[in-house]
This record gives sequence, structure tokens and C-alpha cells, in this order.
Amino acid sequence: MTTPIGIHDLSLATTGYVLDLADLAAATGVDPDKYRIGLGQDEMSVPGPDEDIVTMGAAAALPILERHGRDRIRTLFFATESGVDQSKSAAVFAHRLLELPAACRAVELKQACYAATAALQAGIGIVARNPGEQVLVIASDIARYEVDTAAEPTQGAGAVAFLVSADPALVEIEPVVGVDTADVDDFWRPNDSVTAVVDGKLSIDAYLDGFTAAWDDYRARGGADIDAIGRFCHHQPFTRMAAKAHRRLAEHTGVDLPADRYETSTAYNRRMGNSYTASLYAGLAALLDGDDNLAGRRIGFLSYGSGSVSEFFTGVVGPDYREHRRGAQAQLDAREPVSVARYRELHAAAHLGSTHDVEIAPETRTRFHFAGIRGRARRYRS
Ligand code: HMG
Repeated sequence: MTTPIGIHDLSLATTGYVLDLADLAAATGVDPDKYRIGLGQDEMSVPGPDEDIVTMGAAAALPILERHGRDRIRTLFFATESGVDQSKSAAVFAHRLLELPAACRAVELKQACYAATAALQAGIGIVARNPGEQVLVIASDIARYEVDTAAEPTQGAGAVAFLVSADPALVEIEPVVGVDTADVDDFWRPNDSVTAVVDGKLSIDAYLDGFTAAWDDYRARGGADIDAIGRFCHHQPFTRMAAKAHRRLAEHTGVDLPADRYETSTAYNRRMGNSYTASLYAGLAALLDGDDNLAGRRIGFLSYGSGSVSEFFTGVVGPDYREHRRGAQAQLDAREPVSVARYRELHAAAHLGSTHDVEIAPETRTRFHFAGIRGRARRYRS
């Protein structure tokens, strides 16, 4: 019998600030229902000047290390598309903040929102070879578009960390997966831009096409019948996208799929906004925290990263998952509201550059702080 491997623990962190999308709607003359109902978004997390993907990622991972220790972790994968350096991985910064052992590999992975799933699968491979080891995965991103665009209300920020381990307490990941790669210009971020370039309508079609292709590949490789999948967790750039994905799967398979099979997974993303690589796993966090009938159930996951790579995979929830709830809701409730003017100020200041030394004072209540630039290098405070 092969050793079960999967997600043993999972933890979410987000920013110190939050913008109510009703305020953004009022400021831009948009009907607030367009955001609340049309996009399925209520709020978006806004990073303070002392926050970035490293501070959020380390904050997400720390509780996992406090619960399980550091001794068995020999790999840290950091999945992001908001990289802070072209060469040094965000994993190395996080490795130091988290006081992980020196005998540990630390690597960053990128493919739009998809990379955390690549990290999960690579982590499973490492644990399969050495079942005594654990792999720490951090998915952390800041979604930034130009202001006054249709994409502005779909921004957000957040991080999810998870521990890949043998005999996992939360979700055993099953071996059959379906994958699809297609070169499409639906969304990308050039090296000289802090905001993404997006063809919104094309991105929705590319997501849905990637989903059906990954699903077909999953089935062709012997994946479970749709009736054997009790819940779905779809990538959520905005939560109405999960509804579109769910509807597409129902049409594609010809099977009635009630909305209650995915809806619980949207609770955190509605409030956090798009967290790119972390978004799918924030969906899993919401599902595990909000659904009392998951023990032994199979969840179907659709991971999509623009550009594009899609993967459909499944996991079976452990019998005692309810003992492992982590109260991510408290993280969302702890954010301090900001005005539209303050959010726009923070947005405009996001590109710091590296040519001048800058000292950033601690401002938000985050556990780790970005401290600024010295000698062209990024500095952090614990
Ligand atoms: P838009 O121009 O605001 O679209 O752009 P819209 O005018 O079609 O409105 C959106 C929905 O709101 C529509 O519903 C309207 O009917 C509804 P739908 O037709 O979709 O069912 N609506 C209203 N509902 C209630 N009351 C009202 C009202 N008015 C309108 N008064 C778009 C929307 C998502 C395109 C834009 O926000 C965007 O470009 N976002 C960024 C791109 C994105 O999120 N794409 C998703 C797929 S790609 C992906 O997931 C990858 C990604 O995460 C990145 C990565 O992989 O790294 C983005």
C-alpha cells in the first residue's frame, strides 16, 4: 500500500488594511451591486507600506511551524507572481524570518496563479521519496491592476501556507490529475510593470477552456466520476468566477451540480479579493472551516494560472479535520478599514524601486515588517 500524502496543516494571512468595495463603487460612480453580486466581492485586502509577499507569507507559515516544529522541513517552496527580486527567491527571505534550519532548500515558483499547485505536486514527490520529511509551501500574492479599470475591484492580497506530509490530517491528495497548458495572452505582468495587463473577457474564456481541458485529461487518466466528487474548490479571481466554472463543469458533463457543492469555499475570497496563487487554497481554508460534513469526502480542485496552465486534482478530507480549524476569519476581521483616497495613495506608492535607500517604519499590525531598501537590497524586521 502506498503512503497517503497531502496537506497536513494550512494557515492564512492577509494585509493590515481593507477597502470596502461599496466605498470604491461610490467613489467611482458604479452600482455597488455590480461588485457585490456581479463579481461576488465585498472587500479587498490592501497592503500597507510595510507589507509585501514575504511578510504575508511568513505570517501565514509561522503558526504551522509553532504547531509542528521545524525539524522535518527540508524544503520551502514559495509560489508567487509578485516576486520582489529577479534573482533571489522570496523563499530565502521567508526562510530567515521563519528561522528554518540551514539544511533546507528554498525556491520560488512562478506560473501566474497556478504555481502553488506545482509546489504541492513537487512537495508530494519529495515526501513520497522520503516520507519522514515535510515540505512547507507558501503561496503569497498581491493582485494589482491599474486604477479606474474594470479589473480594479478584483484586486486583493493574501497568503496561504500549507505543510505537505505523509499521513496528512487535513486532505490526502490523490494521485490522478488532469493538466492543460495553452499559450494565451489573457493576463500577464511585464518585468517593468507593478500592475498586470489583462484582457478580462478573454481571461474568463481561457480559464473555462483550461478547466474543461484539464477535466477531460483527468477523466482520460482514470480520475473519479463526477458523482464521486462531493465538493468543488475552483480558483477564485473574484468569487462569481467560481460560479461560472461550476456551471461550465455541469454543462460539460451534463450532470446537475448544485451550487452548495462549491459555495462555502468563497467565504474568505469574497473579503480578501484575488490573492492569485493563494486564492485556491484560501478557498480550501474556507471550505474546511465552514463545512461540517466533509469527513471522508472527495474535493475536486481546479487550479488555473493565466498564460495559461490548468490542473484538476482531487483530495479526500481526513476524519478529524474539524479539530484542525484555524480561524482565518479572525485575520480578516482584524484588518483596519482605509478610505478610497488612502488606498489609492498606497497603490500609487507601490513601486519603490531599488536605486535609493528607503527606511519604512512599521505601520500595520503585521507579524513581520518590510523595513525598506538599503544598498539596493530589501530589508525585513521580525
Ligand atoms: P466588467 O467590464 O466589469 O464586466 O469586467 P461586466 O460589465 O460584464 O460585469 C461583470 C458582471 O457584473 C456581469 O455578470 C454583469 O452582468 C454584472 P456576468 O455576465 O459575468 O454574469 N453586473 C451586475 N450585477 C448586478 N448588479 C449590477 C451589475 N452590473 C453588472 N448593477 C472582469 C469584469 C472580470 C472582466 C474584470 O473585472 C477583469 O478584467 N478582472 C481581472 C481579470 C480576471 O479576474 N479574470 C478572471 C479569469 S483569469 C484568472 O482567473 C487568472 C487571474 O487570477 C490571474 C492569474 O492567473 O495570475 C486573474
